[in-house]
Amino acid sequence: MDIYNADYVEKLFDEMAGTYELVNYLSSFGFSHRWRRQFVNKIDIQAGMVICDLMCGMGECWSSLAPRLAPHGQLVALDLSQGMLHGARKQAAKFPHLTIQIIKENALINGLADESADCVICGFGLKTFSEEQKEILAAQIRRILKPNGVFSIIEVSVPTGWFFQKLYMFYLKRVIPLIGSLLLGNPENYRMLGVYTEKFGDSRSMMQALAYQGLSVEYHHYFYGCATGISGMKLELGKINPFD
Ligand SMILES: C[S@@+](CC[C@H](N)C(=O)[O-])C[C@H]1O[C@@H](n2cnc3c(N)ncnc32)[C@H](O)[C@@H]1O
Repeated sequence: MDIYNADYVEKLFDEMAGTYELVNYLSSFGFSHRWRRQFVNKIDIQAGMVICDLMCGMGECWSSLAPRLAPHGQLVALDLSQGMLHGARKQAAKFPHLTIQIIKENALINGLADESADCVICGFGLKTFSEEQKEILAAQIRRILKPNGVFSIIEVSVPTGWFFQKLYMFYLKRVIPLIGSLLLGNPENYRMLGVYTEKFGDSRSMMQALAYQGLSVEYHHYFYGCATGISGMKLELGKINPFD
C-alpha cells in the first residue's frame, strides 16, 4: 500500500470529510484555528489579491483571510477530495465579497495558469506528500506565483523536546483514533493522520525544496514545534530578499 498515492489520499479524506474539522481541532489540541490565523498573518495580504489555497479542504483557512481581502478579492481553492470540497462549497456562501473558484484537482498536476496568484497558502496539506512529491509541489508553487508573489504554509509537526514528542505522538496515534471511533468514524483513518505526521516530521525538507526553486524562505515554529511552517516570496530578478 502506497500511502502517498493520490487515490489513497483522496479516499481517506472523502471518508473523513464528515468529522474532519472536529478531529483536526482535537488533533492540534484545539490550536488549529489559532495556527491558521498565525500562518496567514505571516504574509502581507491586501484587498483585491488573487489567493490560491492549495489543499483547501473545506475552506478552513478562509475566515482568517477574508477580512484582509475585503472589500473584494479572489480565491482559487484546490483540493482532490470531493467530500472536502462539498464542505468548501458550503463555506464559500459565507463570503459573498469574495470570488471563490473551487477546483477538484491534484495539486501536483494542476491546470492553474503560470504566474496567476499574488499569494499561495497551504494549511495542513503537506503531510500526505512524500519527499519527491514535496519537490514537485514546490515547483508548482513557484510556477503559480506572480513575481513578488508571497506564500505561507503550515503543517502539524513532531515537536523536538523528548517528553513533549512522546506525549504528542501518543495523543495523535492512540487518543485521536479512539476519539475518531467514538465519533463513529473509521479509527484506521484517524490513526493514519498520526502515521503521516510521524513520517512528515517537520517542514524543513519542504523549506529546502522551496529554496531550491529560488524562492526566499523563512521558517516558523508554532507552539514548541507542534506545527511548523514556511513563508516567503518569489523574488523578481534583482529584487533584494526581504528575509536576508
Ligand atoms: C488536512 S486537510 C487540510 C484542509 C485545510 N487546508 C485546513 O486548513 O484544515 C488536507 C487536505 O489536502 C488535500 N490533499 C491531499 N493531497 C492532495 C493533492 N495531491 N492535491 C490536492 N489536494 C490534496 C486533502 O484532500 C485534504 O482536504
